[in-house]
Amino acid sequence: MTGGGDCPGLNAAIRGVVVRAIAGGVDVIGVEDGWEGLIDGRFRTLTRDDVRGIVRRGGTILGTSRKDPFVHGDGYASVEATVEAAGIETLVVIGGDGSLRTAARLSSEGLRVVGIPKTIDNDIGGTDVTLGFHTAVQIVVDAIDRLTTTAESHNRVMVVEVMGRSAGWIAAYAGMAGGAEAILVPEEPIDYKDLAARLMRRHRSGPDYSVVVVAEGAPGPGGEIRTRGADQFGFQRLGGVGDEVALAVEQMTHFETRVMTLGYLQRGGIPNAFDRILGTRFGVRAAELAIEGRSEVMVAVRGDEIVTVDLEDACSNPRPLDPAFFNTASWFLA
Ligand code: F6P
Repeated sequence: MTGGGDCPGLNAAIRGVVVRAIAGGVDVIGVEDGWEGLIDGRFRTLTRDDVRGIVRRGGTILGTSRKDPFVHGDGYASVEATVEAAGIETLVVIGGDGSLRTAARLSSEGLRVVGIPKTIDNDIGGTDVTLGFHTAVQIVVDAIDRLTTTAESHNRVMVVEVMGRSAGWIAAYAGMAGGAEAILVPEEPIDYKDLAARLMRRHRSGPDYSVVVVAEGAPGPGGEIRTRGADQFGFQRLGGVGDEVALAVEQMTHFETRVMTLGYLQRGGIPNAFDRILGTRFGVRAAELAIEGRSEVMVAVRGDEIVTVDLEDACSNPRPLDPAFFNTASWFLA
């Protein structure tokens, strides 16, 4: 099953699980729409034909949701009937921190679980990288490249709001690769005076335009995080900080400023080669772990290797942006 927000590479992982499991003599059942399908008993057998050609497809052929058996049901009891009816021996959960935490809880109540870490946010512990992150970064870099030429033509400051929740990975990677003048991340409160001073210094010294990348979870000076309320599952929707940054920059510098919130463009569409390969490797290894009868584990990347880590450990230790990486990126800021 796939749970939480979608990301590029999910189908590559599903294909990896299906092809490897079938080769090992194990049937695969796809659960539809995340935990919702497990609660409601919506699942289907996945054959080799079902996954043919999907390595390049965005989204997830299984569908996903943010429903949670512990929040919207009675935990394991709400999925037990489906698990038994379908004859599920091991549940492979392709999820972000929320789905993997739920998976870890279910495994402590008796369900055999193998996790695959996916999220464009790149914030899951135990792994060097999560599925979907690199495609999202490329999408943001392409957007920054385009926004830079229009900012330059009009002598404007362009504020680009990106996703990432409480981690600044997307902002820092894309900001570095896109040559942004400022990168505002959730790990540090925004210092508007400093930002304005830096932009004014840059514009005085020649270039009359700037690109500011801001992560949706970047806190204001008092630590406040902009939200757009909660969705039907109680999940806080972040966003709006880009407008706040643009307003502050315009008021403090008098430079004409525009905002671009990249939103769901960052998650949609085809995965790049990296995520197709990572999804495939994660899927194959997860199927092997299921065949071996392992549980409470997550596949992960360490260097170039696919390794196995403790699921509970991974989801109880979210991974913030690496300060050393941010330090390197900082040399190129205004
Ligand atoms: O966790 C992935 C993510 O894309 C975040 O970056 C973003 O805050 C959130 O999901 C948006 O979720 P939803 O699809 O529920 O609006």
